[in-house]
Amino acid sequence: MTTPTIELKPSASPLADAERAAILANPGFGRHFTDHMVTIKWTEGRGWHDGQLVPYAPIPLDPATMVLHYAQEIFEGLKAYRQPDGSVATFRPDKNAKRFQASARRLGMPELPVETFIEACDALVKQDQAWVPAHGGEESLYLRPFMIATEVGLGVKPANEYLFLVIASPAGAYFPGGVKPVSIWVSEDHVRAVPGGMGDAKTGGNYAASLLAQAEAAAEGCAQVCYLDAVERKWVEELGGMNLYFVYGNKIVTPRLTGSILEGVTRDSLLSVARDLGYEAEEGRISVDQWQRDSENGTLTEVFACGTAAVITPVGTVKRTGAEWQQSGGEPGEVTLRLRQALLDIQRGTAEDEHGWMHPL
Ligand code: COI
Repeated sequence: MTTPTIELKPSASPLADAERAAILANPGFGRHFTDHMVTIKWTEGRGWHDGQLVPYAPIPLDPATMVLHYAQEIFEGLKAYRQPDGSVATFRPDKNAKRFQASARRLGMPELPVETFIEACDALVKQDQAWVPAHGGEESLYLRPFMIATEVGLGVKPANEYLFLVIASPAGAYFPGGVKPVSIWVSEDHVRAVPGGMGDAKTGGNYAASLLAQAEAAAEGCAQVCYLDAVERKWVEELGGMNLYFVYGNKIVTPRLTGSILEGVTRDSLLSVARDLGYEAEEGRISVDQWQRDSENGTLTEVFACGTAAVITPVGTVKRTGAEWQQSGGEPGEVTLRLRQALLDIQRGTAEDEHGWMHPL
């Protein structure tokens, strides 16, 4: 595989300092984008080429571009954090790069070398580092690497041309309530992914498939939908865009990877962080009936959602057809908050990075 270097073509007119500061004061999630983006092309027979850092701009696409019709698209999400000394570091970019390769394989797309993925993210963060929010708050710079099929044509086949891009967006809390517990609707009608499908790939189609159930969750007054497995419709899998953890006193359990669950980087990191803090941490199987029963009998003490965007968000109210209950009295649980703080301390550089997860720029 070739590894193109990224040619820098910075903008002559980045956003004025005052306007950027106004955005950083209240960034929300995914609403504002930095001054630049990275693009790298792939062409059959030539491989990866023409790596560039250019001003952030629309990308012109022919109406018959394959991604618009057959959704051959994959993406990632990772964050850059301001460190106490003012420098910037990203969290586990190698893990995202490897998952991006796995998603590419599943969708018949070319694999971007891990070092090129990291180089592209580094180039963008370095160029736009004024956009990385100040140390000490909840905010960070969210990076969105993605790849689309750019061949023009309507035949259904793996494309012979692709475009890889990285864009960046300053990010506050994913849920408007921040660490306030979110409410969950357990969907017993819709599934997110099926065995042998592409549930373990990070591709837009999985998120499109979640939107109807997400709308039903909203109609039930809930912020997120929780999916069950497609075969027995009983085992808890994940939420629309994040993984789940169940807290049983001193033990945390997350649904084990079945091929239809996305292997979240935050999910994986928490298995280690929890063990570092002296908790038992395991991957297992939890049915929705057990979830309800153990909440009602008090053995299941907390539940939380986790993901790069969501960080760790406590679960409050849970609803399913015919039943409704509250986790930890609707308040953020102690274990949830402890794990959240421990992970954020590593990411913000205020705790020892014992696992070598931080990638300084
Ligand atoms: C992330 O957490 O990075 C995701 O891609 C999930 C999405 C809901 C924003």
